[in-house]
Amino acid sequence: MHVDAAIRSRKSVRRFLPLSIPRHVVEHILQVAARAPSGNNVQPWHVHVVSGQAKQALCADLHTAATTQAEQHSAEYHYYPDNWFEPYQGRRRAVGFDLYEALGIERDDLPARNQQMLRNYQFFDAPVGVLISLDRRLNTGSFMDLGMFIQNIMLAARGQGLHTCAQAAFAWYHQIVRRHVPLADHDILVCGIALGHEDREAPENRMETPREQVANFASFHGFHEREASPSTLA
Ligand SMILES: Cc1cc2nc3c(=O)[nH]c(=O)nc-3n(C[C@H](O)[C@H](O)[C@H](O)COP(=O)(O)O)c2cc1C
Repeated sequence: MHVDAAIRSRKSVRRFLPLSIPRHVVEHILQVAARAPSGNNVQPWHVHVVSGQAKQALCADLHTAATTQAEQHSAEYHYYPDNWFEPYQGRRRAVGFDLYEALGIERDDLPARNQQMLRNYQFFDAPVGVLISLDRRLNTGSFMDLGMFIQNIMLAARGQGLHTCAQAAFAWYHQIVRRHVPLADHDILVCGIALGHEDREAPENRMETPREQVANFASFHGFHEREASPSTLA
C-alpha cells in the first residue's frame, strides 16, 4: 500500500465486524508503529491491549460508570479548551452533526446522542482495544511523540486491512481502566484505539470528514511561482 493510500484510507470507524484478530497481528502493528520518531528517541508510549473476556469486563464497568457516575470522572490532561472559538468550534460541531445525520439521529434527540456516545465504551464493537498511556513525569513534548505513535498504529492497521478509531473518551475513565489493567500510578491514560474490521454496511462508517485546502492552513515563502512542480515535469 502506498503511504498516501494508507493515510487517505484511514478514517474513524465506529462500527466493527465481530471478527477476532490474532495477537501476532496486533504485535506486528505495534512493532511497526514503534518506528515512530520521538524526541531523543525516548519512546514514551506504553500500551495495554485488551480483547475477549478482558475487554468485555472492562467495557461493562466503563458502561456502568459512564451511565451512572459520569460527573465523578475526569481526564488527567486537558485535550480541549474550556471555551471553544472559531474556526475550531464550527468544525467540531460539523463533525458531530454529520455523524448524527449519518445515523439518522435528530440534533435535539439527546438520549440517542448519548447512546451513540456510550458506544465509545464498547470500543464500537471492535474485537481489540488498545489503551495508550504516557509517563506523567515527562513533559508536553512527549504528547507529540505519542501522537506520531498513535497515527502509526492507525496506518499500520491499514497495512493489515484493518481500521481504527482513536478514542480520547477513555481518558475520562482512567480510574475504571486502572481496575482492569496495571497502569502505573505515574502513567496518564491518554486515549484508546478501537481496532478491527470495518463494518462496511454501517452508515456511521460512510461519513466523510472534510479537510481544509492547503492554501487555508499553509503559507509559502521563498518559492518561485514559475518553479516546476513534480506534476509538471515530463
Ligand atoms: C486523539 C484522538 C481522540 C479521539 N477521540 C475520539 C473519541 O473519543 N470518540 C470518537 O468517536 N472519535 C474520536 N476521535 C475521532 C475524531 O473525531 C476524528 O478523527 C475526526 O472527526 C476526523 O475524522 P476521521 O478520523 O474519520 O478522519 C478522536 C481522534 C483523535 C485523533
